[in-house]
Amino acid sequence: MTEGMRELLLSRIRDVSDYPQPGVMFKDITPLLADPAAFTALTDALAGVCARHGATKVVGLEARGFILAAPVAVRAGLGFIPVRKAGKLPGATLSQAYELEYGTAEIEIHAEDLGGGDRVMVIDDVLATGGTAEASLELIRRAGAEVAGVAILMELGFLGGRARLEPALQGAPLEAL
Ligand code: PRP
Repeated sequence: MTEGMRELLLSRIRDVSDYPQPGVMFKDITPLLADPAAFTALTDALAGVCARHGATKVVGLEARGFILAAPVAVRAGLGFIPVRKAGKLPGATLSQAYELEYGTAEIEIHAEDLGGGDRVMVIDDVLATGGTAEASLELIRRAGAEVAGVAILMELGFLGGRARLEPALQGAPLEAL
């Protein structure tokens, strides 16, 4: 991605202070999604990451990850698979619980959507603590597929997500645009 494209993407991410709770600076990507030049540049860049790392499937993490991963899958000519919050998928699922700052969360995937021979790129908007991405890698491997990598728009470095994710990556790349 060129420096100009990176500047364009950065300029379309809105900082919203004290959302969803006091003291938090929320990174709002809706201005980026509303700008076709920026959304296309982001889609192309993420599709390029998929191609570089030989992905055969794209996993999007609910909900904002869906918005990015679906057009990337179409652009890259790959299948799209949703990882959803627990209780939303109708078929036979694999579930993975993970730790939040307070409490736990659970995500699920349709077990039959992935299998041996698949190389999966996980796509999301933000890497914060890394818990969601880490749990998604576990689901992908439990489904019998290989992890091609994790591609995200932005990484909140001060939350240490990269370090938490590192063991689960098992050498696969984490690319933050
Ligand atoms: C956000 C974001 C990532 C996750 C990152 O999703 O879109 O999926 O949190 O956090 P982590 O690295 O600490 O796990 P959120 O659960 O807020 O859901 P949404 O996309 O439905 O808004």
